[in-house]
Amino acid sequence: METTFTGTEGQVIRCKAAVAWEAGKPLSIEDVEVAPPKAHEVRIKVVATGVCHTDWEYLYENKKGMRFRPFPLVLGHEAAGIVESVGPQVTKFAAGDQVIPLFLPQCQECDRCLSPKTNLCKRAKTQVGVLADGTSRISCKRQQIYQFLGVSSFSQYTVVPDTSLAKINSNAPLDKVFLLGCGVSTGYGAALKTGKVERDSVCAVFGLGAVGLAAVMGCKAAGAKTIIGVDVNPNKFEKAIMLGATECVNPNDDSKSIQEVLVEKTNGGVDYALECVGSPVVMSAALESTTDAWGVCVIAGWTETESMSVVVEKLLMGRTLTGTYFGGWKSVEGVFKLVEDYMEKKLKLDEFITHDLPLNQINQAFETLKSGTSIRTLIRLWEKEAPAEEVTS
Ligand SMILES: NC(=O)c1ccc[n+]([C@@H]2O[C@H](COP(=O)([O-])OP(=O)(O)OC[C@H]3O[C@@H](n4cnc5c(N)ncnc54)[C@H](O)[C@@H]3O)[C@@H](O)[C@H]2O)c1
Ligand SMILES: [Zn+2]
Ligand SMILES: [Zn+2]
Repeated sequence: METTFTGTEGQVIRCKAAVAWEAGKPLSIEDVEVAPPKAHEVRIKVVATGVCHTDWEYLYENKKGMRFRPFPLVLGHEAAGIVESVGPQVTKFAAGDQVIPLFLPQCQECDRCLSPKTNLCKRAKTQVGVLADGTSRISCKRQQIYQFLGVSSFSQYTVVPDTSLAKINSNAPLDKVFLLGCGVSTGYGAALKTGKVERDSVCAVFGLGAVGLAAVMGCKAAGAKTIIGVDVNPNKFEKAIMLGATECVNPNDDSKSIQEVLVEKTNGGVDYALECVGSPVVMSAALESTTDAWGVCVIAGWTETESMSVVVEKLLMGRTLTGTYFGGWKSVEGVFKLVEDYMEKKLKLDEFITHDLPLNQINQAFETLKSGTSIRTLIRLWEKEAPAEEVTS
């Protein structure tokens, strides 16, 4: 995509954004002002964004004890765009670069970034709703609008730290690779990076949304011989099979618990169970569906405050319970590489996009995600009219 920016550098940009004024209410399309980037910040023109379950959770599920989430805010953290301008001391980006903003930074300086053991850069989660100087770059009606996970991609422009941005292939289609900003990278890495699924292994993936389907794809890429997709919504099964599941199971089809069903079906339990729902009950079921001796359970589903129950004997008998944030990828390097993999047709993305809508219909994307009729809706921030039909890939 060719984009030239003239005259906006250093200026406040007025553009459209979907603002969440308060929890539990639909988003509202507003004219917002996006300030120029400060030191070590980059302003990007957001071209494509998805709606992830985590956006839904922050807006609609206000569970007791959840971390402080300031409103009003601009949600959105799975996106791709083009650099419009850079702030002082930014050396790795220039106007016109194709980029994916990252909710998990990779500063490449902290002890965690320097360790091969983790992707959890120390700069992650230090601030809620604001950038390094304690303020947001987005405002509306003279009010500061908080940013979400340091990204806020439901805005035509946003400003992100230069440590939370991956420069990607200049030919990559932004309306596909935006998926690598969250859901697909998370699920794919849950299997490949965190779980380290082995060839010829037996796997179960709980939850077949974008994260779970990407986990299925990761198990397949690792050479697993059996990949069992588990979801309470059987409409998800067709796509799971297309992406590599060898069979699918609906927990509601049996009077036995899903863990009993899986242990029986696999003569003792699966080698790897990947939880991609975000439910503590399902997390326990996933752990209990793994085999004695070397079963590995990876939690990718999100919950901030709830606890899962663990029968200690399950751990004593050799199981490993672990979790994954952004699929274990060091974000800047991982996203660059995953985009290359897509360009080389080693990784599928098109199959995850079931709907295609303009920004002003974003509330519909939330509804279809929640009702289970979509996997991911591509939100185009610059298209005036929605293409009329659903995408059927
Ligand atoms: N760890 C991370 O870094 C990270 C990143 C992105 C998303 N997440 C989390 O991953 C989870 C999945 O995200 P998504 O966008 O794919 O969500 P989604 O809503 O698209 O998919 C969730 C799926 O789980 C299924 N499900 C619900 N209850 C179930 C049950 N009892 N048993 C089996 N399946 C069940 C639903 O039918 C749905 O298909 C969410 O919790 C999200 O917040 C975590
Ligand atoms: Zn997400
Ligand atoms: Zn770091």
